[in-house]
Amino acid sequence: MHADEAVQPQAIGPRKAQATAVFAELASEPGVPKPDPILVVNNVVRRFGGLTAVNVEHVEIQRGSITALIGPNGAGKTTFFNQLTGFDTADAGEWTFNGRPMKGVSAHKVARQGMVRTFQLTKALSKLTVLENMRLGAQGQRGENFLRALVAGLWRGQEKEITERAEDLLRRFKLDAKSADFAGSLSGGQRKLLEMARALMVEPELVMLDEPMAGVNPALTQSLLGHVKDLREQGMTVLFVEHDMDMVRDISDWVIVMAQGSVIAEGPPDSIMSDPRVVDAYLGAHHDAPLSAEEEEQQLAEAEAALEAEAQGVADPADAARPAPASVAEGTSRKEPGDD
Ligand SMILES: Nc1ncnc2c1ncn2[C@@H]1O[C@H](COP(=O)(O)OP(=O)(O)OP(=O)(O)O)[C@@H](O)[C@H]1O
Ligand SMILES: [Mg+2]
Repeated sequence: MHADEAVQPQAIGPRKAQATAVFAELASEPGVPKPDPILVVNNVVRRFGGLTAVNVEHVEIQRGSITALIGPNGAGKTTFFNQLTGFDTADAGEWTFNGRPMKGVSAHKVARQGMVRTFQLTKALSKLTVLENMRLGAQGQRGENFLRALVAGLWRGQEKEITERAEDLLRRFKLDAKSADFAGSLSGGQRKLLEMARALMVEPELVMLDEPMAGVNPALTQSLLGHVKDLREQGMTVLFVEHDMDMVRDISDWVIVMAQGSVIAEGPPDSIMSDPRVVDAYLGAHHDAPLSAEEEEQQLAEAEAALEAEAQGVADPADAARPAPASVAEGTSRKEPGDD
């Protein structure tokens, strides 16, 4: 274990108690209304050919809580995240964030409005330094346009403020000693930390984490869990996807279960896993092993090659009409009309 991967104290504070009290009053049923929802989703559908990947009738995310989104592989969790955060375009439905309609809003605008997400496969750019990755985070999430934003130097004018914020966050995540190192030199777990830190550059209200702990070593897992709890204590709302039920039980106030695209159950972490609907959903479903370091490298390399090609303007124009490779976009990533 590296010194910088030391276990950190876990944040348990008044907001945990507050969230527990709120959820104790709620019925355990899909779509149950919450007293103070930051996100309200209605009838969101995403189809891929004949497959309905997401079909969520109604779901609300309580402000100031940590909500886990669980479900077997292929349940539609990542696709659902992609719709909500503007990385993909839903076929139907609407949702509001802080009461504002968000359908059709592009990813970086969603991020700037305070709803930010991380990815199942880390998007840290290994040929940029840790600090450069952080500064890109200040732009909001531009998906495959990250590098273009860097080249264009769009943040000019706020340079100093952004660098200071990045350095603060890197200290908080114990990555400050790595500030000038290439992100590619970080361990898998440190990249996950970097991605979480980068997401915080936009000062979000809602942080959506897609499998933040996958492939992270046990020492760093504790640190990540501590950081997630800490987000709640700082007043943020967290929605996270996770397969490890011990972690779900440890950090979440409420659990939402998806299967075959729909929300099939909601409830407190202690009881949800014994809910017969949940047991049924998981029966026969098998979990993929976490990505090996080599697979992660490979996917990252592919993503970077695509980014660089685009930044240099050498990309085949026909690519624009094709969905991005799964390793880049985890699903599709389309540019919206009126984006930018
Ligand atoms: N771009 C795409 N094109 C076609 N099908 C897709 C695409 N993206 C996702 N799917 C399909 O949609 C379904 C939901 O996938 P998704 O990745 O959202 O599941 P998940 O719940 O995140 O699974 P996991 O736990 O394995 O990450 C799967 O059947 C998947 O194969
Ligand atoms: Mg997924």
